Amino acid sequence: MHADVDEKELLFEQLYKKLRNVIPVAEIRHKAKLAAEINRLKQARNAVILGHNYMEPALYHSVPDFRGDSLELSRRAAQTDKDIIIFCGVRFMAETAKILSPQKTVLIPSSKAGCSLAESITAEDVRQLKKMYPGVPVITYVNTYADVKAECDICCTSGNAAAVVRSFKDETVIFLPDQYLASNVARETGKHIVFPVKSAAGLIKPDPNLDYAMIGWQGRCEVHEKFTVEDIVNIRAQFPDVVILAHPECSPEVVAAADYSGSTSAMIRYVQETKAPHYLLLTECSMGDNIAAENPEKEMLRLCSVRCPHMNEITLEDTLAALQKTQYIVTVPEEIRVRALRAVQRMLEIG
Ligand code: 13P
Ligand code: SF4
Repeated sequence: MHADVDEKELLFEQLYKKLRNVIPVAEIRHKAKLAAEINRLKQARNAVILGHNYMEPALYHSVPDFRGDSLELSRRAAQTDKDIIIFCGVRFMAETAKILSPQKTVLIPSSKAGCSLAESITAEDVRQLKKMYPGVPVITYVNTYADVKAECDICCTSGNAAAVVRSFKDETVIFLPDQYLASNVARETGKHIVFPVKSAAGLIKPDPNLDYAMIGWQGRCEVHEKFTVEDIVNIRAQFPDVVILAHPECSPEVVAAADYSGSTSAMIRYVQETKAPHYLLLTECSMGDNIAAENPEKEMLRLCSVRCPHMNEITLEDTLAALQKTQYIVTVPEEIRVRALRAVQRMLEIG
């Protein structure tokens, strides 16, 4: 058999085994063909593919050399010796890869893969906050663009947010831009949090007499803000033994009502390492499909069809086009990159 045909067949079998209950066979065959061509070109061009846990199942299970959450993929981006990094994720993730590996060509398969959290804050907003709270260290979630990171002291991800806040001991910190992640971390670290309000007239400072050790921002993830405590109550009424996992971008009420909260990879590990009658994931819905495909003996309940529209932009077709046409090249101006790098590296040192 010809090597190409062989590779296509192998990929088809691999995908069929995992996804036969998730997508139709004809589609699996089509995707296997695309994936085989991507893998061939990836080798020819000395490229590495990083795939976030939210990638659609056929992509997730075929072409990435490394899969993971934002923190794990940042580490992979920093370590690779390949010439090209194809980032199957959203723009802020690809930018982080460029910040860490400026000498590499970093490509993102779609120019439309944004993020509602990254859009919620600008570098000018951060400068205003720093004026309002001089000397207060600024922590930013990695779900921000490079110019915002450049204004901050340190980054964090959902996988290390509490550790980063704790690294400042008793100091008051600014934590941007996710209101819910900040509130969840405040609860976990025992700190009170306040939120300045952005108005047409500028930022409105919260009452300085309030007792607080964290200052947040009112950004939200358009996916995770959709989950409610009512969803949890309803599902528990139907399945009393269900184990519910919520991403920390969900509201504090939802996280408090869930059984476990962690980064996307932490949730995957939790399902792999435990044995419950049913699981429910309160996060982007492709990830539920990806976990179900890898844990066929575990019952994953499907509550949501909440797909991140930005992650949804990344397809196998576009990944192939990225390799064929060297698109879309991710750039970060050097003056911004070096400042953003400090914040990203400081995070990586914390672990
Ligand atoms: P993780 O870092 O947990 O993978 O989260 C990234 C993200 O965008 C979640 O919505
Ligand atoms: Fe951004 Fe939310 Fe999509 Fe994650 S799920 S990339 S936080 S919009």
